[in-house]
Amino acid sequence: PHAVVVAGARPNFIKVKPVLDALAADGVRTTLVHTGQHYDDAMSGVFFADLGLRPPDHHLEAGSGSHAVQTAAVMTAFEPLLGRLAPDVVVVVGDVNSTLACALVAAKANIRVAHVEAGLRSGDRTMPEEINRIVTDRLSDLLFAPSPEGVDHLLAEGARPETVHLVGNVMVDTLLACRERARARSTLADLGLQAGEYGLVTLHRPGNVDDPAVLDGLLAALGKVATRCRLVFPVHPRTASRLAGRLPDGVRPLGPLGYLDCVALQMAARLVLTDSGGVQEESTALGVPCLTLRENTERPITVTEGTNRVVGCSPAAVVAAAFEWLDEPPPPRCPALWDGKAGERISSVLVRSLDGRSRG
Ligand code: UD1
Ligand code: UDP
Repeated sequence: PHAVVVAGARPNFIKVKPVLDALAADGVRTTLVHTGQHYDDAMSGVFFADLGLRPPDHHLEAGSGSHAVQTAAVMTAFEPLLGRLAPDVVVVVGDVNSTLACALVAAKANIRVAHVEAGLRSGDRTMPEEINRIVTDRLSDLLFAPSPEGVDHLLAEGARPETVHLVGNVMVDTLLACRERARARSTLADLGLQAGEYGLVTLHRPGNVDDPAVLDGLLAALGKVATRCRLVFPVHPRTASRLAGRLPDGVRPLGPLGYLDCVALQMAARLVLTDSGGVQEESTALGVPCLTLRENTERPITVTEGTNRVVGCSPAAVVAAAFEWLDEPPPPRCPALWDGKAGERISSVLVRSLDGRSRG
């Protein structure tokens, strides 16, 4: 069998690695397609190096643009390539525009679509990712959910039960595989940080950083938190263009980090403040207290069975929650099936279903 595996943006590279490895171990031929949604070395190249990800077999060079422009650029470049490759399945991960674009092209080419990280729902359709999740899941023939509530959402939306598989979390597979390499790095020393005495901030959701009033409120809150715990803030390119040097005292900006440096900073942080999906999951898997600066999460298991708390974006609520958790951090705990074997489970389901098809 032949699987085309698609990656386009920072979190995708981290998610495809365990899937590619497991498929290779099971004797499945894979073709890795990079859509080019993210292209800076700090948003793409460094992840290939840090993860030992093989170079993409094809690069679509879609680049940045509005949602329609970017999605269309991926689709237009992917369609003829897919026609030439004629794989048995296209594997897409996560919820970015590249995920939706390639799922849509494959579905219309009558090629099976497998979605890794299926069934996540924030219930908030103002998030572009929520639209991408809903449509990608609807188009997919194989739905790989990281946690039980993902299965519930898919079944409630009418997915056929035999297409839905609870497999665990591929982001956590990569985290566990890289944890010791991250721990061995000199990241903290290089930045003059001590374990347990700083907080880590990441912010890039359009709802938080594109509206100056919301961003200013969050920055003011971070400034207050920094009076009790200094903060480091690796800045996403979307956010960089909005910050314009407005960071409060005690909040130190960094460029976007490579994966191993980011994990090294997360695992030794006293507190994480984020609007990232992946960082909510990683902090739970690492047992590090996490405050999610959003009104909702598509990853509620990090709250019910992890170390995450969804605090919203009101500055007073952020500061109050941060002070509370600096005084009394939540106990570490980690969801079942977040055990480093999600990629293997995905591969075994894929192999079974592709074998069944070629026989049948
Ligand atoms: C995208 C995803 C988001 C994901 C995030 C991960 C969508 C709709 N959004 O958001 O779900 O959480 O990636 O990081 O797919 N830019 C650069 N260099 C790059 C890439 C982007 O400078 O290598 C800048 C460009 O100005 C671009 C902007 O960042 O316009 C936004 O990039 P884009 O991929 O459209 O969305 P993200 O905010 O990165
Ligand atoms: N990450 C990173 N460098 C950074 C910020 C995040 O390597 O400067 C990693 C983070 O550890 C996680 C992933 O990128 O593995 C999350 O990606 P991001 O927050 O961009 O996207 P999301 O998960 O919100 O879609």
